[in-house]
Parts: sequence; structure tokens; C-alpha cells
Amino acid sequence: MDNIIENEELNQSENTVAAPEKTEATRKVFIKTYGCQMNVYDSDRMSDVLTSDGFTKTDSLDDADLVILNTCHIREKAAEKVYSELGRIRKLKAEKAKNGKQMMVSVAGCVAQAEGAEISRRAPIVDLVVGPQSYHRLPDLLKKAESGVKVVETEFDIQDKFKHLATPSKEAVRKRGVTAFVTVQEGCDKFCTFCVVPYTRGAEVSRKVEQIVMETERLAAAGVREVTLLGQNVNAWHGEGPDGREWGLGELLFRLAEIDGIKRLRYTTSHPRDMEDSLIAAHRDLDVLMPYLHLPVQSGSDAILKVMNRKHTRDDYFRMIDQIREARADIALSGDFIVGFPGETDQDHKDTLDLIRRVTYGSAFSFKYSPRPGTPGATFEAQVEEHVKSERLAELQQLLSSQQKDFNTSLVGKTIDVLFEKEGRKEGQLAGRSPWLQPVHVNAPKDLYGEIGTVEIVATSANSLEGRLV
Ligand code: 5AD
Ligand code: SF4
Repeated sequence: MDNIIENEELNQSENTVAAPEKTEATRKVFIKTYGCQMNVYDSDRMSDVLTSDGFTKTDSLDDADLVILNTCHIREKAAEKVYSELGRIRKLKAEKAKNGKQMMVSVAGCVAQAEGAEISRRAPIVDLVVGPQSYHRLPDLLKKAESGVKVVETEFDIQDKFKHLATPSKEAVRKRGVTAFVTVQEGCDKFCTFCVVPYTRGAEVSRKVEQIVMETERLAAAGVREVTLLGQNVNAWHGEGPDGREWGLGELLFRLAEIDGIKRLRYTTSHPRDMEDSLIAAHRDLDVLMPYLHLPVQSGSDAILKVMNRKHTRDDYFRMIDQIREARADIALSGDFIVGFPGETDQDHKDTLDLIRRVTYGSAFSFKYSPRPGTPGATFEAQVEEHVKSERLAELQQLLSSQQKDFNTSLVGKTIDVLFEKEGRKEGQLAGRSPWLQPVHVNAPKDLYGEIGTVEIVATSANSLEGRLV
């Protein structure tokens, strides 16, 4: 999986996703999204379901009749943030109650799945705890909760895991903008020893080709130009094709590339073990598949990779990267790294730094190891001291930042494609993304929104590029 947007101490990300507007609305929902892109996507799904049930969006917590926290359980810090937020909401809920107004509070996402009823015990203001498999039932669950019953719904329906992903209505799709996510796969069978995902999101299940194609066609017809396929372990996707055969992600990308209007495809997040030949061929042959790959390695030490149960060595990873670069020379790599996994020695850490120097990343995310209850890693002896983790993280992030800076600087003077997605920071500007996912700010007329422009890069800052239309 590895597709968390958050980067410890560098790039904390929380997104507020509100339901699409509707005029005759009565009640208002506020959704706060933590963690990965899968949660961003799921928040959109919840918005869709609730809008159909008469809710409208609000970006203001104060106005909300229903508050949903779509949570992340990947590291302790992420999970604890939810409880601090619930503390703040408790006061607001009490004030509203004094004025005779009801505010329902729901916790969704991976903390909901992992902690279930424990959440309402720790935070009694929570009316509804709902796991990712039950979002399609939100209106019913909400009614039940409104009647005064505490509702905890964290069942897994393995037979129909994608029920909650029913293709969104045309109206919902129209609100999406130029870029969109499409979930193709959920869950993970890899069981890395640090990771909660196999427990919170369950076993790997792949969506069928026809469903994915239908959703992508609908998005394209509504003006979406870039689609990112999502999955906790996206390149393990193996969905049933219309021919009854099982397809791999490479084949799927070739099929999606045929859809009119789709100008860019991406996928995230991948596991090095699942980079099949057809996927590498897609990088070689498909111009619409962007030259950017998030391929987390976590550690550069064979000993640590083994205890992490990553099921590959550092040399396997190097070979894989060589193959990918042979197929697509301009590809930029991204990754995730964990420092201070139990037993990590100074030498193991040096091996990780060495791997980073050899691979060279365009961007990357890095974290201190955080023991997660229920995972094997949490029980390992030889936990690394906090100050050692901090030192190692600082060293690693310094190296990764300098690689990112070098990559950005290398684009100055070059002419690249930018898909314009929204208004820019300054008046008269549009903002878009480069093929390598960097934000690019350009003086450009509004009618280029949704188009790919040719842009000469003139400057860079830490996390973005500045360019001018050619
Ligand atoms: N501690 C620290 N980082 C973790 N990640 C996953 N689990 C943990 C953990 N217990 C990181 C991995 C993964 C990313 C999404 O989060 O690097 O790829
Ligand atoms: Fe990714 Fe490993 Fe977690 Fe699966 S268990 S989601 S492969 S980090």
C-alpha cells in the first residue's frame, strides 16, 4: 500500500472533503479526512451517499449537523490526532445541545475498523463508528444512531467488498474536477511486520475490469483528464476481465489508455514484488502512463527487509529499478522509508542511506517506526530508542530533500507538459501538475483549465515549480 500522503514532520496532510452542493438542502455534513488517498476517495464516496440522502456540504465544523472523521491508523500519531479532534468537537457538541441543536459525530476509516466500540468508550460523544466496508449504508446507520442507539458497524463483507464503491452518479462525478481517483483494489495480503493495513483493510480483493472501465469512462465524459488507480497494494490487482480471464495491472492500464478524454494515468501504491512484466511494458509503451512511480522499499538493509517480511532483497530492488528505467528513461522514483525498525543498527541505517544514493529519488516519504498494536513488529525486542530514531530520520530526510531539490532544479530551462487543474496562487495564474507530480504555477488564461499546456520551467521552490507558457 504505502500510499499515505502524510510525511512525518515534513508534510502533514489533512484534507477536508465536503459533499457536493445542493440547493434545497436541509442538513449539513462536515467530513475531515486523515491519511492516504484511499481515504480521500472514500470521503468522496461518503459525500455522494449522503448528498443523495439530502445532506449538503459544509467546510465549517460550526455549521455541521453531522461530523465525520475519516481516520488513519497507520502510525500512533495519526490515530491520536483523532482523539484530540474529538476533544474539540465535544465542546462544540455540548454548546449546540444547549441551543437545542443536535450534532451527530461519526468516526469512519481505519481507526474505526481497528478500535470499534473502544472509540465510543474513550470518546462517548461518538454516535456512530463505521468501517470502510459499510459506507454505502451510512444513511441507515445514521438513522439508527439518531434514535439514541450507539452504532458500531465494522463488519467485513468479503463477498461484496466493493458494494460501497458503486459507480457514482453523473451529478456526483461532475463535481470532481480534472483529476480523480478510481479504487481498483483494496486490502493487502503481504503482512509486513510493521503494518496494520492487512488487519484494518483485510484481505486483498480486486475490482472487475468492467466496473473500473465504466467508472473511468464516466469520469472522462464528465471532464476528468487524469485518473489515478488506487489500491493499498495496487500492482497486486488481478481483476476478472470481460473475457473471463484474470488480468494484471499492466493489461488494465493498456485498456484504460483507450478511453477517450483520458490524457494521464497513474497508479499508487505499489509493492516491489508485484512489478510484473506487463506493467513494465505499460511504462515502456503508454505515453499516457505518467513517468512517475511510487515504489516503497522501507529499508536498504537486507537484514531489516527480512524481519519486515518484505520478501525481497536490496539487490532485487536495484534490479527492478534498472528494468523500469530501461523501459522508461525519464521515470522519477518515489518511495517510503521507515527508520528505527526493531533491531536496526547503525550499519543497517547506513545501508538505507546508501540505497537512497544509488537509486536517487524525485520525492519520498519517511517515518520513524511506530509500534502498532496487533502487528508482529510491536512485540519484537530491541526496539530502537526514540532519540536514535529522530537522528536517523533527520539524516535520511536531509538526503531525500537534497535529491528532491536536485531533481526540481534539473527541470529549470526544460519544457514540460502541465495539466492545469485549478486556479494558481496568484491572480492570473493556473496551477497544475508536471508528469512527475510536482505542482507547477503558470500565468495562463482560465480557458486552459483541464488542458495540457507546454510550459518552460523558469524557477523552483522547495515543493513546486514555476513556469511560463510556451
Ligand atoms: N511505523 C512507521 N511507518 C509506518 N508505515 C506503515 N506502518 C508504519 C509504522 N508502523 C509507513 C510505511 C508505509 C507508509 C504508508 O507508512 O512506510 O509505506
Ligand atoms: Fe503495504 Fe506491507 Fe502494509 Fe501491505 S502490509 S499495505 S505491502 S506496507
